[in-house]
Amino acid sequence: MTEPGATTFARILRQHLDRGVIQPDDSVLVQFAGTFDELVCKEVGLTNVTLVNIAPDSPSSELGGSVIDAHDMPYASASYDHVMGHSGLHHCSRPHEALHEMYRIARRTVLFVENQDSALMRAATKAGVVGWYELAAVVADGYETGGVDGTGVPNFIYRWTRRDLEKTVAAFDPAYDIPVEVHTEWNLGTGRVASEVLRRKLRLSQASAEKAFTNGQRVLNRVAARQGQHLRRHDPQGPGDAAPVDGDAGADAPAVSGSGGLSWRCA
Ligand SMILES: C[S@@+](CC[C@H](N)C(=O)[O-])C[C@H]1O[C@@H](n2cnc3c(N)ncnc32)[C@H](O)[C@@H]1O
Repeated sequence: MTEPGATTFARILRQHLDRGVIQPDDSVLVQFAGTFDELVCKEVGLTNVTLVNIAPDSPSSELGGSVIDAHDMPYASASYDHVMGHSGLHHCSRPHEALHEMYRIARRTVLFVENQDSALMRAATKAGVVGWYELAAVVADGYETGGVDGTGVPNFIYRWTRRDLEKTVAAFDPAYDIPVEVHTEWNLGTGRVASEVLRRKLRLSQASAEKAFTNGQRVLNRVAARQGQHLRRHDPQGPGDAAPVDGDAGADAPAVSGSGGLSWRCA
């Protein structure tokens, strides 16, 4: 299994820490969290982290504690420096609403890792390498959890296009020009369900699949990274750099002036 500290999520967090966008003792709320996120945060050196989940006792979380629904978070606006989510938005019945909650609660940064809706990913879906709906997690959790909103109903895998993200964020806070940065990459790690499906389709042994996927991933990231299935998004500027849009609305925007400015990072 891939070490949490070597994953896309950990890499992005390290980049943000290196750039000073995130400080180790900043307050961080992690949505859709499990022991994986706990380990990643620890490994990159974050010290002030709150981890929440709608199904905290499920195998995908195992954190225990309160049930927290991403669509209706019991936190005040701008109450955490950074709000993050790894591989959870696509489990939400209303992903845009859940993203808005992240945005509402974040003082400075929202960061998430999700699948991209690119032409290559759509082709992979049509070829049956990856699905439109996520069945494996529900099966693995005995049909009790692992699906939409933590239930046993398989979730539609909501993949984001760049434009999708830009429009969604623009709609959240029209008074401000919220900086957005999108990074994409391929991750064909052999631990992934899709890679296992592909391995079986191609009738490869575990060893040959590992080699083929590692080399394939390298090539894809060199020639077609923009099409990558992992879409991560963050803003290119420092914290608090959201620029008011010209005009009265920008000058009066309470959500932003009350918090000293919001920036937006999705990874
Ligand atoms: C694929 S797992 C990801 C877990 C962890 N972040 C990781 O990457 O290993 C998705 C998680 O999202 C949680 N989840 C699904 N719908 C949710 C919702 N509406 N609110 C909060 N958490 C939710 C599930 O309980 C599950 O633990």
